[in-house]
Amino acid sequence: MKLLATFPENYELIDAGGGKKLERWGEIITIRPEHQAYFQAALPLNDWKKQANWEFIPEKEGALSGQWKALNNSQQRTWEIAIENAQFQLSLTSNKHLGLFPEQQTNWEFITQFLNPSKRFLNAFAYTGAASVIGRLTGAEVIHCDSSKSIIEWAKTNQALSEVTGIKWVLEDALKFIQREVKRGNKYDLIQLDPPAWGIGSNGEKWKLEEKLAELIQSSYELLHPKGVLIINTYSPKLTLEKFNKTLQLLPKSAHILTSSELWMHTLSEKSLFYGLLARIQKIK
Ligand SMILES: C[S@@+](CC[C@H](N)C(=O)[O-])C[C@H]1O[C@@H](n2cnc3c(N)ncnc32)[C@H](O)[C@@H]1O
Repeated sequence: MKLLATFPENYELIDAGGGKKLERWGEIITIRPEHQAYFQAALPLNDWKKQANWEFIPEKEGALSGQWKALNNSQQRTWEIAIENAQFQLSLTSNKHLGLFPEQQTNWEFITQFLNPSKRFLNAFAYTGAASVIGRLTGAEVIHCDSSKSIIEWAKTNQALSEVTGIKWVLEDALKFIQREVKRGNKYDLIQLDPPAWGIGSNGEKWKLEEKLAELIQSSYELLHPKGVLIINTYSPKLTLEKFNKTLQLLPKSAHILTSSELWMHTLSEKSLFYGLLARIQKIK
């Protein structure tokens, strides 16, 4: 099954192809490597370069790190974008990311509809806190867990820009935190997991998604209140939807799968890009 993510406010995926994508983030247009864009782009690269402000040049082919090259005399390396009632800081980082994953729009909509001031939300592998801020805007209690100190600082900036307060920050390995919460008997109404394919814990411990996924899902499921929902995003070249579904089938019978699908986004030029897998599971009692 395929789920199609729509563009968040002020963002457009303009075109993709030739191993790159062309995106608009508010006023700024970027070109970034995208290995899922193995097909031919709709527009010629010269046209992309006329429109774009910045292009990410990897250190070597396939490398995550690299540098941003200014196009058309661009200078602004940090700017803000408004999405619904939130405001996020974007920045050109040395690993090609800008601080938001726009395909998460589908989860932001779900979070906004599901949460209210009586609910408790754990956002784990929470990155710059888009889901945390959007969750907190509903009045819900929000716990934000990430193992990177500098990323938590960025999330705090997003909290301040969005004029909300009270997000609880946890700088820790997400699986360790979740397992400790299970022991403490704490419960949540909504948990979102967005683990990277390869992660590094707060004590430098290495993380491989395929090895930890089942444990991560099962421990998180234990933390849910009845009727609670677990959202899992994954992006790993080694994890197919079939393998992912097998892992979900290990959950108890009380687990009702609301969604389990590939996540895709269309470009304005009518190309399609794959963005990993997404599941939403509800504990029915
Ligand atoms: C893929 S990003 C999450 C994207 C985010 N949910 C969003 O949509 O905006 C992964 C995040 O996981 C964090 N991370 C990596 N390994 C971790 C671990 N073992 N425990 C907690 N966080 C981890 C990274 O610092 C990074 O912020």
